[in-house]
Amino acid sequence: MKIENKEYRTIWFDEANQLVKIIDQTKLPHQFIIKDLKTVKDAINAIKTMEVRGAPLIGATAAYGVALAIKEDEKDITTNSGVCLDSEYDPNFIKKNLEDLVQSRPTAINLKWAVDRMVKKMSDITGSKIVDIAFKEAKDICDEDEKFCENIGINGMKIIEEIYNKKKDTVNILTHCNAGWLATINWGTATSPIYHAHKKGIPIHVWVDETRPRNQGANLTSYELNEEGIANTIIADNTGGILMQRGDVDMCIVGTDRTLSTGDICNKIGTYLKALAAHDNNVPFYVALPSSTIDWNIKNFKDIPIEERNSEELSHIEGIDEDNKLKKILIYPKKSKALNLAFDVTPAKYVTGLITEKGICEASSDALNKMFK
Ligand code: MRU
Repeated sequence: MKIENKEYRTIWFDEANQLVKIIDQTKLPHQFIIKDLKTVKDAINAIKTMEVRGAPLIGATAAYGVALAIKEDEKDITTNSGVCLDSEYDPNFIKKNLEDLVQSRPTAINLKWAVDRMVKKMSDITGSKIVDIAFKEAKDICDEDEKFCENIGINGMKIIEEIYNKKKDTVNILTHCNAGWLATINWGTATSPIYHAHKKGIPIHVWVDETRPRNQGANLTSYELNEEGIANTIIADNTGGILMQRGDVDMCIVGTDRTLSTGDICNKIGTYLKALAAHDNNVPFYVALPSSTIDWNIKNFKDIPIEERNSEELSHIEGIDEDNKLKKILIYPKKSKALNLAFDVTPAKYVTGLITEKGICEASSDALNKMFK
């Protein structure tokens, strides 16, 4: 999608310099900075600090992280004899770093999914082409995600079109957090149906939940919609309820970091409350996801690891001052404690439907099994 009219993906491989490039999302929307990831530690750090974020993009970064680890490891051993050249060489280098990668953000299942896929692909590969094959697999994961998100858009657009055909007026869609192209490789999940409908000429307006504490809605979703010329209004997280009561929301579309095979979905904190309000007001509540977000193992949502982040994300806020300089300030009493849970779970009964790359289905194990198994 576009930033200042130039097409970007969120992550890409720089062949010439054999490194990975990302857009640093911690500085958006105020500064557009492209960063290099040269080592697996850089990839782990980018995920932890949320320079990259959003479940599919975390997965893609982890895949490149595995490739970078293999590259670093290869540099340290002779390729033809397997003999260690460097006394500092750590035979467990890849294993240890892969464990750190998987732990870097625990809730989004795409991370483990991507690392597992890389490990499976690379497990029986040896020889001089190993690094090239690893980078190619990481790129395949990115290409696949882009295609899946495009299909989510094509499938989800039909729902928006149906609403428009009945209403014959602007379709108002509420979304939470950033499940936009910045959270994926391209298109986004929740935003892909919106982008597709907009390209088809359907008039759309998006209510963008600010999404405290990190404000991914205001900072990222609104920013990317602006760049694509889509009307949007940022609202405080508590505003969605009254808008739904007033009939000002035609549908909600959100993303997910982990979708259980039961149809329960785990997404950015506050999603659950929006789903309850939508249910109470008969507003359709859709969740958009690529199949890489499905966790087929955990059956009880209470077993999902919920990331607890630094309370500084709540007590401090960052923005630009009058001199256009980025500044972070404390907004709470110094002595106050704060709890920063990053995700919550919306039970399947509140989800109208799952929009996937294969089509739209009910949020239930029967429907998910039928579609994907
Ligand atoms: O903490 P974040 O910014 O990584 O959270 C992102 C979300 O919650 C998204 O809605 C989710 O990853 C789906 S992304 C297509």
